[in-house]
Amino acid sequence: MSTRILLSPPHMSGEERTLVGKVFDSNWIAPAGPDLDAFEEELAEFTGAGHACALSSGTAAIHLALQLLGVRPGDRVICSSQTFVASANPILMCGAIPVFVDSDPQTWCMSVPALERILARMEGEGCTPRVCIAVSLYGQAADLPAIDALCKRYGVKLLDEAAEALGAKHGSQMAGTFGDLGVYSFNGNKIITTSGGGALVGSDPSLIERARFLATQARDPSPIGAYEHSAQGFNYRMSNILAAVGRGQLKVLEQRVERRREIFAHYRDALHEIERITWMPDAPYGRATRWLTCCLMDNNEERDRLIHHLDKDLIESRPVWKPMHLQPLFAGCTYEPHDPDNDVSARLFNDGVCLPSGSSLTASEQARVIESIHSFFG
Ligand SMILES: Cc1ncc(COP(=O)(O)O)c(C=O)c1O
Repeated sequence: MSTRILLSPPHMSGEERTLVGKVFDSNWIAPAGPDLDAFEEELAEFTGAGHACALSSGTAAIHLALQLLGVRPGDRVICSSQTFVASANPILMCGAIPVFVDSDPQTWCMSVPALERILARMEGEGCTPRVCIAVSLYGQAADLPAIDALCKRYGVKLLDEAAEALGAKHGSQMAGTFGDLGVYSFNGNKIITTSGGGALVGSDPSLIERARFLATQARDPSPIGAYEHSAQGFNYRMSNILAAVGRGQLKVLEQRVERRREIFAHYRDALHEIERITWMPDAPYGRATRWLTCCLMDNNEERDRLIHHLDKDLIESRPVWKPMHLQPLFAGCTYEPHDPDNDVSARLFNDGVCLPSGSSLTASEQARVIESIHSFFG
């Protein structure tokens, strides 16, 4: 009996267990401690971000980022439509109004022409957004320099939402390090994981220091450690235990990127004769991590049948994210398509599928997935 092949399970290096053992020996079982400090330094160094604040989740990092970038109730916040709901939920948590932007068919990330159109229109209507959340999807960097330039032109802050794209590059610069602040997730399915966790990164040390303050209940300084608060805070800090896991994971991140890219290349080569499959394109800049290998089927009915077919063969696959402008939660929100007759993210959702892509996927497991897809197409 075969075991079920998962989409993107955690992949420990082995060293994490030793590092966690040392945390127990030192008794730093708290959302503070030497591993937390070291993890932040190592992450800032690896990404080139400058400064990092490790948090309980990527969602917490986005929420804090919006607070730090000045989002207040009633403000508009632009967000990629093609993403997981956690990119957009923090907009609602701030009492702000989301405005969604479509994807570019060449990158699946935020469409620059659509962003330009909506920014011009919003300026004309006197409701320029406070922040733009540009998501780097499935391990592919969005066109961040172009998005950053547009944001600067219109006086909009940029949040580089790289929850799925740690290790991805635009040119030689890491996703997550463009704009005013960046976000990573270390959720269990991500390219490296701390079981759950996230980070806020940025080049401005005062913003990251403020993030630490807000993430620990915003306790004002006091010579006797008294509990006085003049701002609303949160309990969003990462545990020192999980930071130790993160340190072990960070050491193998480059290997994990290489392995996921290899897995994608093997799917593409082994299935090249099936013309009905279209692979997520490589953007013409930088390096995608291929966090998940994604492709499009010919149509929605074929995509659904493929997911069922793989499931019967004990293989997990998933539809590409349902875009935010099609979610009941965001009904009525403004949406700017890539061009008026081309709703790219709707098509990606209708026909798109994510295949097992974990860096621990063995050659024989990948052969099973490939064989199952071959048998589906007959
Ligand atoms: C695009 C995107 N944004 C945000 C998140 C939220 O991260 P977390 O699960 O760490 O809160 C995730 C994944 O979970 C994601 O895929």
